[in-house]
Amino acid sequence: MKAIYPGSFDPFTNGHLDIVERALKVVDGVVIAVLNNSSKKSLLNIDQRIELIGEVLHNYGNRIEVKSFTGLLVDFCRTQKTHVVIRGLRAVSDFDYEHAIFLMNRKMYPEFETLFFMSSSENSFISSTIIKEVASLGGKVTDQVPEAVNRKLLEIYPGKNPV
Ligand code: PNS
Repeated sequence: MKAIYPGSFDPFTNGHLDIVERALKVVDGVVIAVLNNSSKKSLLNIDQRIELIGEVLHNYGNRIEVKSFTGLLVDFCRTQKTHVVIRGLRAVSDFDYEHAIFLMNRKMYPEFETLFFMSSSENSFISSTIIKEVASLGGKVTDQVPEAVNRKLLEIYPGKNPV
């Protein structure tokens, strides 16, 4: 069974990596679906995000595909011929939002299912927003993002984010 892991991934963090690696123990393949939302200001453009995720996950070969999507997630699911989505839950605070989008997606696509993976405790405080803020202010994020992502952040904020 193939599942879709959708998100903004701006940037891809160790929290995302943990969810993908655990999902691969449950499903045969994962399509990482990177939301291409031109109205949302992002640090990394869509090509940079796709390239970084591909680099981080290259060891998994054809069990991982990285694609961009626009529009509704349920429409993208249909084009990929799957009705299963993966999402991570970090804390109770994630639940309300995830519950609402799950119910709405199911309304539009009755077969739709979400597999929720609880974040590991060491990743439960990581968010892309916090990573961007810390990196931009010169803080160290080496323990929270894959090496390739850290390299990209150092390129964007040169000399500030210590290795
Ligand atoms: O990483 P994020 O930003 O929490 O991911 C949110 C995402 C991309 C899963 C969600 O915004 C989404 O599915 N957007 C696509 C548009 C859509 O289908 N919206 C309707 C959900 S009710």
